[in-house]
Amino acid sequence: MEIVIAESLVKEYDSFKAVDGIDFNINRAECFGFLGPNGAGKTTIMKMIHCFMPPTRGLLKVFDLDVRVYPSEIKARIGVMPQENNLDPDLSVMENLIVYSRYFGIKKKEAIKRAEELLDFVGLYDRLNTNVEELSGGMKRRLVLARALLNEPELLILDEPTTGLDPLSRRQVWEMIRTEQAKGRTLILTTHYMEEAQLLCSRVAIMDSGRIVVTGSPEELMEKYGGSLEDVYLRLTGKRLVEATGEALRQQ
Ligand SMILES: Nc1ncnc2c1ncn2[C@@H]1O[C@H](COP(=O)(O)OP(=O)(O)OP(=O)(O)O)[C@@H](O)[C@H]1O
Ligand SMILES: [Mg+2]
Repeated sequence: MEIVIAESLVKEYDSFKAVDGIDFNINRAECFGFLGPNGAGKTTIMKMIHCFMPPTRGLLKVFDLDVRVYPSEIKARIGVMPQENNLDPDLSVMENLIVYSRYFGIKKKEAIKRAEELLDFVGLYDRLNTNVEELSGGMKRRLVLARALLNEPELLILDEPTTGLDPLSRRQVWEMIRTEQAKGRTLILTTHYMEEAQLLCSRVAIMDSGRIVVTGSPEELMEKYGGSLEDVYLRLTGKRLVEATGEALRQQ
């Protein structure tokens, strides 16, 4: 069954097309990755899927529900790890989770129990009372992952989950993501690390300038285009940039 269906999906910011008429389906229990250069439109897609903002045009259904009609029903079933941490800097680790759990109507006692389990899972249990400001970048990222799991989501959206992490912390986050994957959750991931995409994703869409250039499993794409996933990525993206630069050079 398809968890997300997008057809001719467009998002415009004023008159700029950040997402330029794309189609994709994401199946239950798969990990689907969006890859592409800065500004390709990845975060914009994530934000439309978790009903942070509506599409400008086209169809977008999550759990077979139209995002324009059922945003609260959809949000209740999604966990989000946004690209920016957006934790409350005035609160402790535990308080951040408790406050967030209120959005889902989770009762205080249950919220504390879940928060303790999740902090244990992400290795922050001993930091329970620490002020969020005092956490390292990697610890903040793990806390945001714990927060995304509070409502036991069917669909987990991970927007650059490991950007800025050291190699060991990155591996730890990968392990956590794989654990969640094994529980049958559907995952949507964006990353600039091809190794991460290859390890975690069953399928990826390579994007450029608001469009999907190609979709397939990492293995299929490597087979079709040759080389590593990074080679495939480099071959398929940034064409407009290269063409524009080439044109500028010719005119000199
Ligand atoms: N709120 C906004 N208002 C206007 N333009 C925006 C807004 N958010 C994003 N954009 C533009 O839309 C395009 C896509 O941005 P988006 O954040 O989706 O890219 P991305 O693929 O996530 O990039 P990155 O890899 O840097 O995170 C960019 O050109 C960006 O400048
Ligand atoms: Mg982004």
